Amino acid sequence: MNVSPNPYEGKNKNSAPEEGSAFAAGLRGRALLEASALNEGAAFTTAERAALGLEGLLPLSVETIDQQHQRVFQQLGQKTTDLERYIYLIQLLDSNETLFYHVVMSDPAYFLPIIYDPTVGEACLKFSHIYRRPRGLYISLKDKGKIRQILANWSEKDVRVVCVTSGGRILGLGDLGANGMGIPIGKLQLYTACAGVPPKGLLPVLLDFGTNNRELLNDPLYLGLRQTRPALDEVDPFVDEFVEAVQEHFADCCIHFEGWKGTDAFHYLARYRDEICCFNDDIQGTGGVTVAGLVSAMRITNQNLKDQRVLFFGAGSAGIGIANMIVSAMKLDGLSDGQARSRIWLFDSKGLVEDTRQDLNPEKKAYAHAHTPTHDLVTAINAIKPTVLIGVSTVGKAFNQAVVEAMSEINHRPIIFALSNPTERAECTAEEAYRWSRGNAIYAAGVQFPAVHYDGDIFLPGQANNFYIYPAIGLAAYVTRTRRVTDEMFIEAAKATADQVTDEQREKGLLFPPQSNVLEAEVRTAVRVVNLVFERKLARVDQPRDVNTWVRAMLYKPLYRNSYL
Ligand code: NAI
Repeated sequence: MNVSPNPYEGKNKNSAPEEGSAFAAGLRGRALLEASALNEGAAFTTAERAALGLEGLLPLSVETIDQQHQRVFQQLGQKTTDLERYIYLIQLLDSNETLFYHVVMSDPAYFLPIIYDPTVGEACLKFSHIYRRPRGLYISLKDKGKIRQILANWSEKDVRVVCVTSGGRILGLGDLGANGMGIPIGKLQLYTACAGVPPKGLLPVLLDFGTNNRELLNDPLYLGLRQTRPALDEVDPFVDEFVEAVQEHFADCCIHFEGWKGTDAFHYLARYRDEICCFNDDIQGTGGVTVAGLVSAMRITNQNLKDQRVLFFGAGSAGIGIANMIVSAMKLDGLSDGQARSRIWLFDSKGLVEDTRQDLNPEKKAYAHAHTPTHDLVTAINAIKPTVLIGVSTVGKAFNQAVVEAMSEINHRPIIFALSNPTERAECTAEEAYRWSRGNAIYAAGVQFPAVHYDGDIFLPGQANNFYIYPAIGLAAYVTRTRRVTDEMFIEAAKATADQVTDEQREKGLLFPPQSNVLEAEVRTAVRVVNLVFERKLARVDQPRDVNTWVRAMLYKPLYRNSYL
């Protein structure tokens, strides 16, 4: 028998078992092959196979991760829809986490729309039907009083970020109940794929309060709690129990709220943001990436953010979240709260938000200025004269030719962000914005539109996707164990993102860094946020001499644990 005595053959030959490796974990045989985070499949060397009880359990060939990668590409090529590719990739993640990230991180621009938006929306709609294996924690109202016990069932103790949804508002798709679990699973994959956060420290959680979605409640295969959602005050003690249990069980953990119904999202952010380390991506992440787009736009127009007049079409969690973040950014630029708010206007399904309206919640009231009521967007534009128009209404085609032309009459370079998604809900397409503004619009969308040819020029429309911001915030929280996540951190992330767009890219219409290099862009962004966390004395670790090197040393690399390739 010709077996090398060195189990690290072809890999790390010069040190003891690396922390987290199969050797260190003490796993062997089938149990090792079924542990996705440690499994290397056919890449286990002959010596490892002998040392780890794997002989006979794998085909003869010993492969490199690049060969395995090639096979994945070949198998993916045989799938005909993105949903099939999504299901295939989730199964790959369940069997070999390293190979999954090796593949996804090799071409983020191609893979992000498959593992996340828009495919994840379809996957959530069908979650109970395409379900294969559990991932993360499922905690329902029936578990009240024993959430601590449930958290103890999670074997990983060093969890640094929990992403938790109630499934109440999933993308533009509404209440998807337990099917919403696809969102925290996908969001956390992007922490790793876009910002190099080690997957071991990330935990997706569904808090299942039921659903008001009749179709799901009547679906025999629906996997969640079969009841309608109770009132918020009934849910509060349960969410409090969850938040406290997370604090006790996972030291210094950050809670990322995602996919909650708008009113619930504001309620819980207000309840916890000054007490624990948490953030809401639908509110603050959306705000952050939109501010990044506006900072880029200011570089094009040579203006200041604090001088803009912003009109929102749509005033739900995204609209209010962005408005609040712009106010925070304007205040950092020297305006008072009142001055900043006076520059922001809202328009919702009942028309312009103004001070005679009796139906306003407190979030909207803060932006209800004195004005004559109107239900017509063009009338509102002509009266308010906004420099920026932001669509977050879920109403496709709401920015028609008259709207874009009205913005172009008032502004030489109108800033028009049509952020609703999926694609058919975008308030206007990139092509429409450029054509109707005669090539002058500074445009971003919530979805990725293709390049537009107009009057001899090529425009590359920006995608204001939250994935530019929240993974970097997550990485900063992960490494610093920050006590709080503040709006200032999101604004720093926004500025750092905008700073990475070159003049040449801006000339073509790009407001965000290219997706092909998203990992490097986010690590740079995270380093800026980490510096701010130390400056504000929010970190729960000591400040290193060289923050950049320190952060980079902690990044996840999709290579087998025992290798130094
Ligand atoms: P939401 O349902 O909470 O809010 C929608 C708002 O639009 C409400 O204020 C509603 O009154 C208003 N609206 C509905 N019909 C209208 C009409 N006919 N005229 C004027 N206003 C109308 O939804 P949420 O969470 O605020 O999201 C809105 C959209 O933004 C969604 O399509 C979502 O996918 C998108 N979004 C995009 C992000 C991005 O691009 N990074 C991030 C977050 C959300």
